[in-house]
Amino acid sequence: MTESVEYQPRAIRPREHHFRGSLGRFATGVAIVTFDGAAKRHGITVNSFTSVSMEPPLVLASIARTARSHDELQGKPFTVNILGAEQQALAMHFAGRPQATEPLWVEGRVAPRLSNVLAFFECTPWAAYDGGDHTLYLGEVVDFSYRTGDALAFANSRFTTIPESQLGVEDLL
Ligand SMILES: Cc1cc2nc3c(=O)[nH]c(=O)nc-3n(C[C@H](O)[C@H](O)[C@H](O)COP(=O)(O)O)c2cc1C
Repeated sequence: MTESVEYQPRAIRPREHHFRGSLGRFATGVAIVTFDGAAKRHGITVNSFTSVSMEPPLVLASIARTARSHDELQGKPFTVNILGAEQQALAMHFAGRPQATEPLWVEGRVAPRLSNVLAFFECTPWAAYDGGDHTLYLGEVVDFSYRTGDALAFANSRFTTIPESQLGVEDLL
């Protein structure tokens, strides 16, 4: 079991705190959006990943306008890397808390990805929609795969894990 560490974003107002607290009751997985920027490779930790469409295969991630990745991601291919239970440090690394161990990158078909993630979706850019102080980046999936293993999850501003035995993916779909 991964040690549960609370992730605290920058200082926020009480109403926003309550809003975030309410949103936090929706448990999610944890992903990192990776892409090649003009000068270097970028990664940003997200829990706003959503599957959108089967045909064409579309996924989305919602990126804050204040994120350094925000402008550079516009019009670029990207990979959504879904994290396994043991990859909490990687999540922190790409959430503005750099870790001592450098991430291992893999050359993807259209965008770079991270080594040994639980699943990945390589995408070409499909559309970008205004989402208030965020932008919804939709990508068309051109390559994907997954491995076995426990999932990293995020709920109530804390990381937790979901054992593979409880995922039951193949049974449901
Ligand atoms: C579990 C978790 C989920 C997050 N989800 C999102 C998200 O969906 N969208 C977003 O813009 N930032 C999200 N963040 C915050 C970014 O990862 C963080 O602000 C990051 O430092 C931005 O990187 P950048 O400024 O280098 O692009 C999340 C952070 C964590 C730890």
